[in-house]
Amino acid sequence: MIKTLIVGNWKMNTDSFEAYKLTSNLIDNINHINSVIKVICPPYIYIPKLHEIISSSNLYLGSQNMFYKDAGAYTGEISPQMLKEYCEYVILGHSERRTLFEENDELINKKTKAAIENNIIPIICVGENISERESGLTKNKIRNQLLNSLKNLEENANISIAYEPIWAIGTGVAATPEIAQETMKYIRLILQEIFNSDTANKTPILYGGSVTDQNALEYLNLTDINGCLIGGASLDSKKFSKIVEIAAIK
Ligand code: PGA
Repeated sequence: MIKTLIVGNWKMNTDSFEAYKLTSNLIDNINHINSVIKVICPPYIYIPKLHEIISSSNLYLGSQNMFYKDAGAYTGEISPQMLKEYCEYVILGHSERRTLFEENDELINKKTKAAIENNIIPIICVGENISERESGLTKNKIRNQLLNSLKNLEENANISIAYEPIWAIGTGVAATPEIAQETMKYIRLILQEIFNSDTANKTPILYGGSVTDQNALEYLNLTDINGCLIGGASLDSKKFSKIVEIAAIK
């Protein structure tokens, strides 16, 4: 049985006071829930301080991105060596990284390998844009993203996948549960093709895109889902806590 994973992607939001407050509210609200893995992904700059704050809790830290080299002349980048002291998870290939910062599958593949080598669990994001969906290209796009970003990994790689349709991110237009289920089932099939059925069955697959405390249950009841990647609603401690509570009792 895969433990449900609820991940909050704060993106480039919060000031330091809000970051500390949000984290301590979450500890108060959901620290007692052990049946769900709870991960917050704040901006890099707050990670060391939040690591101190969560040290006696059962929340985990994730990074929203990282570079693939351990150290060197890479101005402005953060390495897996630096992050592994603080983070158990890293989000890779988020559609905002792909579209705004031109990240491609080849780069995401390098980052994925670097994360695994440093014992950081990568949460690799895949998903189609609206014109790909409307042209019937969703499966094709996702298959290519998975084949290329998961190239040459170990058979039993410890990874998570997030299905995030681009048209559902930050728009309030979440994918229907049917679309989410159909695509996540397909993702598991491709994982089987890439790895084997054992790895496919134990890899957490998350849905992300306009998940709120109001619709989380619809997703968390789906057959092939193992959790959610949450943007906007993760900035509200009440909403994020509610989603974790729903995940714990569903
Ligand atoms: P959203 O973002 O929940 O605000 O749609 C999800 C994400 O980008 O991971």
